[in-house]
Amino acid sequence: MSLTNFRTLGRSGLVVSPLALGTMTFGPGEWNADDATSRAIFDAYRDAGGNFVDTADIYAGGGSETLVGRFIAESKVRDEIVLATKFAFNGSASPLTAPQAGGGNPNAGGAGAKNIHRALDASLRRLRTDYIDLYWMHIWDGVTPIEEIVQTLGDLVRAGKIRYYGLSDMPAWLAMKAATIASERRVPGPIAMQLEYSLVARDVESEHFPAAREGGMGIMPWSPLAGGFLSGKYRRNDTGDTGRLSGANPFGDSKFVDRNWDILDVVKAIASELDRPVAQVALAWTLVRTGVTSTLVGARTVSQLESNIAATDIDLSVDQMRRLDDASAPALGFSSGLSAPFIRRMVFGGHDVVGWGE
Ligand SMILES: NC(=O)c1ccc[n+]([C@@H]2O[C@H](COP(=O)([O-])OP(=O)(O)OC[C@H]3O[C@@H](n4cnc5c(N)ncnc54)[C@H](OP(=O)(O)O)[C@@H]3O)[C@@H](O)[C@H]2O)c1
Repeated sequence: MSLTNFRTLGRSGLVVSPLALGTMTFGPGEWNADDATSRAIFDAYRDAGGNFVDTADIYAGGGSETLVGRFIAESKVRDEIVLATKFAFNGSASPLTAPQAGGGNPNAGGAGAKNIHRALDASLRRLRTDYIDLYWMHIWDGVTPIEEIVQTLGDLVRAGKIRYYGLSDMPAWLAMKAATIASERRVPGPIAMQLEYSLVARDVESEHFPAAREGGMGIMPWSPLAGGFLSGKYRRNDTGDTGRLSGANPFGDSKFVDRNWDILDVVKAIASELDRPVAQVALAWTLVRTGVTSTLVGARTVSQLESNIAATDIDLSVDQMRRLDDASAPALGFSSGLSAPFIRRMVFGGHDVVGWGE
């Protein structure tokens, strides 16, 4: 596999690379790359044949979009890039610090029509373009009716300001309802889900993966290295200096728990069998998971990105995949239990019937 093993994203005609360039590390920030390094990362991704670039209005307070817009304009590659950005976090507050009570504009965040139009216009300006290829709802705000979200985003597709849209960080039922409403009302529907997914974060397999398949949505994992944890660079007995994963962090719960260290041990063993970096094995596993279309890679340096891209040429054996699957298997929830092999056989007279897209 390489970055030019293009595929369509969900049930759409949008053609993307198997690895997308995440640009959360672009722009000012404690764990970010400086401008020159960000440019070099962008160029290295393009040189490797990648066409899919992901940013968000909130990354570095708009700084990431500004740099991505500049790099695309300077390289004159707007037509070749599938440009994705996101709305929903509040434009009047930093997402990475606890917001102060009051003071902000409540309509400068969320998925209401007023904010979507505000956010899109600001992103288009920073990105120096008049359309977005893939517009993401970054996170569901928990209150805006799904009908309004689908109508607003579908109208933007029809107006040509965005080509497609996707849903990130939302309950599976919401994505399914959005897809259903869209098709019933003949409004353009979501084509992709962006979710935290890695060897140490597989809980989305039970509800989100089947919903994506049923709703015609491709899955884009974020934090496939669990923010760097799955690179193997941290030590179980010394988690004192762990960069962006230190202490309370905005990327969720601590990655430094016994279960994750045990999973990492299996990844390390396979990396050593293959004589490849640990991070590449973790990425190679993500790349071939059924339902995953394009995996978001984050990098703070060019060498990290180049090494991560090299994961595309790893072929994990059946035995290696099984060991990784077994070590990281999520607890079977009620829904995934319903299609467990034992139940299938009970239903289908002892046969292991395989469903569409499984
Ligand atoms: N939709 C959402 O809510 C959401 C949330 C998060 C991210 N995202 C998107 O997903 C992209 C990727 O997410 P992520 O940054 O969390 O991905 P990740 O791959 O899990 O973590 C990337 C970080 O790991 C470290 N790293 C990367 N490659 C490495 C290597 N080969 N060896 C050692 N360390 C390495 C770097 O941090 P250090 O060098 O500082 O350790 C890098 O910044 C983001 O850029 C963004 O576009 C979306």
